[in-house]
Amino acid sequence: MKHKNLINGKWVDAKSGKTFVDRNPADTDDVVGEFPASGPADVDAAVAAAKAAFDGWRRTPAPKRAQVVYRAGEILRERKAEIARDMTREMGKVLKETNGDVQEGIDTAYHHAAEGRRLFGFTTPSELPNKWAMTVRQPVGVAGIITPWNFPLAIPTWKIFPALVAGNTVVFKPASDTPKSGHTLVEILVEAGAPAGVVNIVHGGGADVGTPIVKHADTRVVSFTGSVETGRELNSIAGGMLKRTCCELGGKNAIIAMDDADLDLLLDGVLWGAFGTTGQRCTATSRLIVHRKIHDEFLGRLLARVKKLRLGNGLDPKTHVGPVVNAGRIEAIQRYVDIGRKEGTLLCGGAAVTDGDLKKGHFYAPTVFDGVKPSARIAKEEIFGPVLTVLECASLVDGIRIANDVEFGLSSSIYTRDITAAFRAIEDLETGIVYVNAPTIGAEAHLPFGGWKSTGNGHREGAHTIYDVFTEWKTVYVDYSGTLQRAQIDNIEAPKSRK
Ligand code: UN1
Repeated sequence: MKHKNLINGKWVDAKSGKTFVDRNPADTDDVVGEFPASGPADVDAAVAAAKAAFDGWRRTPAPKRAQVVYRAGEILRERKAEIARDMTREMGKVLKETNGDVQEGIDTAYHHAAEGRRLFGFTTPSELPNKWAMTVRQPVGVAGIITPWNFPLAIPTWKIFPALVAGNTVVFKPASDTPKSGHTLVEILVEAGAPAGVVNIVHGGGADVGTPIVKHADTRVVSFTGSVETGRELNSIAGGMLKRTCCELGGKNAIIAMDDADLDLLLDGVLWGAFGTTGQRCTATSRLIVHRKIHDEFLGRLLARVKKLRLGNGLDPKTHVGPVVNAGRIEAIQRYVDIGRKEGTLLCGGAAVTDGDLKKGHFYAPTVFDGVKPSARIAKEEIFGPVLTVLECASLVDGIRIANDVEFGLSSSIYTRDITAAFRAIEDLETGIVYVNAPTIGAEAHLPFGGWKSTGNGHREGAHTIYDVFTEWKTVYVDYSGTLQRAQIDNIEAPKSRK
């Protein structure tokens, strides 16, 4: 099926007439759809439409704007099963997880629908009499939204819903590996009542569409989730333009497994954290830092379970682990695995799988490396695939030190029954999210999401905290004294002279 861009309320082809094809990573013969391969001219048109729509939208009361988001949540709820199936077809993760992805979008809709009645500022006494001081949030303007393929619906909703509730208009570029899910979301927003120009979608690649969105003088804020390299590039452009950006980038998330951990619980957590979404989450558990006292026993149990993980098409209910998103991912994972062979002991996996039906897709065997030093590349760099790096620690302090010894700081976890150890970890782990006795994945829509260090640039998505990205504060002073009152001057008593 052929899809179009949405610009100013009209579905249109790319100006060049070019298209690209969206394929199923579990079976590359299966074409999910054809989408416009857009370029800078399409971005210009979309930004112009969003700019023109801004004044009407910003003047629409926030609770009314939020109703559009609420209705979008209702439609997502009605269409959940169908959207989840399409998502599995276009990016591979198993149906249970794509249902979870849509649910995260629904949760996000309802959360932000309510925020429309809560866009709180604050009022405070002035230092002067007969003077009132208060703050209000106002929208920033046209928001550029650039999203990844691993959460093709949830992540766009994290950004677009609050952007709209706050009164911004949107130019959205979904990942070119998952255009269908983003497309459906925009169709739903139109059905839910988003006026023409308020939401625009421009399909295409990063260089052709993403960069022009960032470079455009009229996009006043850009929210991006993706790789560290792209995040750096984006900020080097936006920084020069003094443009606001919200970036959610890589992770190298660790579970610290203490010697008193409940090993059954730990086992389920490590499997889910490391191999859920085929390891393709920013929050994925890519390191297991295991206390040496339980290392041998736990690794034996872990390996037995990893070897039983069934690869396959995510639409098949028997599948545990779906494909990775594309052929480039297979190559990137393989490069790290080849490096890892020199840095540690490969316990299982380590290669693409092409048996039987799997040869039609991009499958990679769940892989575990043991005996890896904290300084190794596979212990430091984000792999974004089904690869778990195991390191040993000798104590809690040692485990926390290793966990923190990376460039990233998104999510972390500790498994222990010792409440003191848990609270020490909560205090000392350098990540935006910390789990106790749960793996590193599974953030909820109404809590801040984001990371320290190179994972981000100081912002948080989710919760009300995202409104710091999509609004400007306006501080208002109303002086009803009828005289000129000078702050810092008229209300200060002269200092008593010191004797
Ligand atoms: C991501 O991988 O970028 O916390 C998002 C989680 C999910 C979101 C992951 N709710 O794992």
